[in-house]
Amino acid sequence: MKLSNISRWKYSNLFINSSYNFNRKRILKLIPSNLLLNSNKTISKWKNYKKTPLINLEKLNQILRLNKIFYKDESKRFHLKSFKALGGAYAVEKISKGKKNIVISSATAGNHGRSVAWGAQRLGLKCKIFVSQHVSETRVKEIEKFGADVIRVSGNYENSISECKKLSKKNNWVIVQDVSTKNYNYVPLLTMAGYSIMIKEISKQTTHYITHIFLQAGVGGMAAGVVAGVAKYFKRIPKIIIVEPDGADCVLQSIKNKQLKKIIIKKESIMGGMSCNEMSLIPWHVLKKASDCCVTVSDSKVSKTVAMLKDKKLSKTSIIGGECATPGIISLISICNNTKTKKLLDLNEKSNVLIIGCEGNADVKLYKQLLFKGRK
Ligand SMILES: Cc1ncc(COP(=O)(O)O)c(C=O)c1O
Repeated sequence: MKLSNISRWKYSNLFINSSYNFNRKRILKLIPSNLLLNSNKTISKWKNYKKTPLINLEKLNQILRLNKIFYKDESKRFHLKSFKALGGAYAVEKISKGKKNIVISSATAGNHGRSVAWGAQRLGLKCKIFVSQHVSETRVKEIEKFGADVIRVSGNYENSISECKKLSKKNNWVIVQDVSTKNYNYVPLLTMAGYSIMIKEISKQTTHYITHIFLQAGVGGMAAGVVAGVAKYFKRIPKIIIVEPDGADCVLQSIKNKQLKKIIIKKESIMGGMSCNEMSLIPWHVLKKASDCCVTVSDSKVSKTVAMLKDKKLSKTSIIGGECATPGIISLISICNNTKTKKLLDLNEKSNVLIIGCEGNADVKLYKQLLFKGRK
């Protein structure tokens, strides 16, 4: 495919947040500073820890003509191939406090469960992971590789959560979930604190001030963790742009309506980890003020972007980016194609944009299919 074709790419929906007010103190009260420091101290001591690469997408920038476009390559995060390695596994370590006789449980759409299973295996703990019927067999196998028992539940993600809660209560298993609710906050806070390491690393990987960050959201945990990292580690506050699949825009709808909105997903997005119908509670309180803008994209450009990353169309190096690694790039391109929106968001030749490449080929089978389709 020719890179010039990207000049026709469009986003689906865009909303500028009229309640925007980035307040470091408020954010670091919601996701406390000491949790951020502790997660960094703990995870950076793990075996095989190293910073994931911050890659320059210079070929994409030859077209978009900004100052820099950085891509944080989470496909290299431990051997889990996703930023999620920083969350669930860290929460397991904190919550188990060295005990060896507990059983960890969790419900997942994929990557969170792998992280929890890996975290339990690292510490020699038993682990039960609940998945819905929509989770692919490849993802189940990846979780089983880390020694967890996987329990399939018919229905959707919510059904897998209910079943996990029910059996965990009955058997006294310790739940490690990444979604916060009114009565369940501490463990999700640990996962968000883990994600903030990406920003701590970036603050040491470039001397350029980041002006814009594109953050994918499912329930908003990753975005909120990164925002907390920005509040803690960045000297200047960049514009925060939240990206979602157009059929699963619970963050955009909540921010637009100034209250938590549960949406109905008519068709699951190919960006499976982001196909969520309701925000996590703490991320809602963080993102309702910290995000400048919400944008949604369709699935139609996912495979093309997977192929462009792999085939060095965007950078000098080949990048393995799975489905959820693509929407930041798709929305950046689409916004730059719209002169009015581009100006509104101050995207110009002085901009240093950060894109989070959330995952690699975490689902190997799907990745191969997307690559094949994108190369056609
Ligand atoms: C693989 C994967 N899963 C899930 C998510 C969503 O994270 P969260 O539900 O914390 O917003 C992302 C990124 O947004 C992702 O890349």
